[in-house]
Amino acid sequence: MVTNADPVYLDYAATTPLDPRVAERMRAVQSSAYFNPASNHFAGRLSATVVDEAAVQLAALLNVDPTSLLWTSGATESNNLAILGGAKQREHRGKHLVTMRTEHKAVVDVFRALEKQGFEIAWLAPDADGRLPLERFEAALRDDTQLASILHINNETGVVQDIEGLGAICRSHDVLFHVDGAQSAGKVPVDLAHLPVDLMSLTAHKFYGPKGVGALFVADGTPIAPQMFGGGQQRRLRPGTLPVDLIAGLGEAASVASSCIDKDLLHLAALRDQLWKGIRDVEGLQRNGQDRGGYPGILNVGVQDVEGESLLLALEPLCVATGSACNSRSQEPSSVLRALGRSDLEAQSAIRFSLGRQTTSAEIELAVSAYRNAVKKLRDLAPERVR
Ligand SMILES: Cc1ncc(COP(=O)(O)O)c(C=O)c1O
Repeated sequence: MVTNADPVYLDYAATTPLDPRVAERMRAVQSSAYFNPASNHFAGRLSATVVDEAAVQLAALLNVDPTSLLWTSGATESNNLAILGGAKQREHRGKHLVTMRTEHKAVVDVFRALEKQGFEIAWLAPDADGRLPLERFEAALRDDTQLASILHINNETGVVQDIEGLGAICRSHDVLFHVDGAQSAGKVPVDLAHLPVDLMSLTAHKFYGPKGVGALFVADGTPIAPQMFGGGQQRRLRPGTLPVDLIAGLGEAASVASSCIDKDLLHLAALRDQLWKGIRDVEGLQRNGQDRGGYPGILNVGVQDVEGESLLLALEPLCVATGSACNSRSQEPSSVLRALGRSDLEAQSAIRFSLGRQTTSAEIELAVSAYRNAVKKLRDLAPERVR
């Protein structure tokens, strides 16, 4: 039973706990195969086998060939490698790139760096529900457009983009298509054998794997320039000694995800609906993102006349977020919510609830009453601000 004193973790979009099966696999690798997979001796070959097995597990989750996966330290690195590597490789053909205003910092700041190097970036706005209309995307592509990067599932709102439609447009214009899949891989079905995607970033810690390890899917024949230089590992595209235990953990997390994504999604949808039904009649409440079709693990709401940071404190022991964890120390209103047309005040009142495999109905019940009470308390404390 959950009591008022227990912390209630509703921040699964920031990170997820390690699945016990993943922890067990990592412990086994640490004690029996923790060698350098690039070494030519027997022990090295043992670790190389562990890495190969993890690639097979991740490849099965994404329906790709294991040789199309590069190991990285996480989605930040994968995004950097895909966008910098793709743009630089095709620089001689043109310097125009396309992305959205609602991307994660780990994409936005890569494009900003390229802007300083003379690339021209089209920053596309979404509709009010967070989606990018296909016509707007196609209209932004030019003869010199080389690469587009679009976030699959938005980390703040749960908005899901039409990756199939956007990718098809990229294919017909010979534009390299990168997808930041940090919030989608391992959480919703992603079939890269059938999606027109050239590059996809992912990270283990968003789907119950360890932190500090991720991957970049690179479709066969996709040209990218390496962004790091060193040893000959991973075809020199991403050199460095591989963290065997972390990679084994990622592989196991992928395997677990393969077996329970559908069940997870049903569980999350039921809890998200419970949460929404419990708070939707709070006066001045506004839902940020899609009403339908969004990722069920995220519910983002703003509320009139209450400030998000104060709400966050008043909600303790609930662990929720006001925006992306990477930006949580910034006082700026969320650029994602601003791009959806929210005012600064509206954006500053937003709370992101993100749910996961371990979330229970009792925790949601507690979250509902905590949210309702906190809004009331803050309004009572500053009655002159209310209307
Ligand atoms: C959409 C998105 N992209 C990229 C990242 C960065 O991932 P990592 O922490 O693995 O570098 C995150 C994580 O916060 C994310 O949510």
